[in-house]
Amino acid sequence: MITGYDHFVTLAESLQWDETGIDYSADREAWPRLTDTEKTRVLGLIAGFVIAETAVSRELGTYQAAASGDSMEAAFRAQARDEARHARFFDLVAAEVAGVPGADPTARRDALRSLVSVDLVDLFEERLPATAQRLAEDHECLTAAVGLYHMVIEGVVLLAGQHAMLDMLEGLSVRLPGVHKGMELVLRDERWHIGFGSRIVQRADIGRDEADMLLTQGETAAKVWGDLITPDAIETAVRQHRRRLKAAGIKFW
Ligand SMILES: [Fe+2]
Ligand SMILES: [Fe+2]
Repeated sequence: MITGYDHFVTLAESLQWDETGIDYSADREAWPRLTDTEKTRVLGLIAGFVIAETAVSRELGTYQAAASGDSMEAAFRAQARDEARHARFFDLVAAEVAGVPGADPTARRDALRSLVSVDLVDLFEERLPATAQRLAEDHECLTAAVGLYHMVIEGVVLLAGQHAMLDMLEGLSVRLPGVHKGMELVLRDERWHIGFGSRIVQRADIGRDEADMLLTQGETAAKVWGDLITPDAIETAVRQHRRRLKAAGIKFW
């Protein structure tokens, strides 16, 4: 019998992919032919994803430790495997397609940090770790921590960035097929992560203050991409966030 969060684990298993199995040769050849503006815009989003995916994959162990039950724990473990792959994928694209210098992922991440807003870096490298730290100290904070990670970070910030990236890739003067393929696979993984987080939030008893906080956090977080994504895309992300919170049974007063 399938109970709790088991179906997310089964789904994750069926969606496995390997970032090194994608062919980036056409992308490598195409990159120098992009215009400077195109390179700047693609690299800005890649920089955000490198920082984001590295940070989220680092924090999931704490969520796993705070899980209530084996089924939820297994789903966090499956998610951690996805996030680690996403971090490797974006680093691979930065290094091998975009030619970002650096001997290792840390050095490349340092080189990319100046391409995104201070607010984006702060969200992933300060606020998320601080939330995970609170969760490590008090497992009762799980719903709030999932609210920030799955609903706000994944549901608003990453989803908006991924859609913007796919739109941008489709409009480039030359194609980047390997990057496009990987982006689609990342997005497919993120959908079940958000579904999993929504389920946790749905099963919790969310009060008015927490509901308001989730909504406000989403509205603020949507802006961390700065001008890397359009105001329209930000608005859409916030609207979907509100709809997802409602679907998870959260009432707004
Ligand atoms: Fe991810
Ligand atoms: Fe994710």
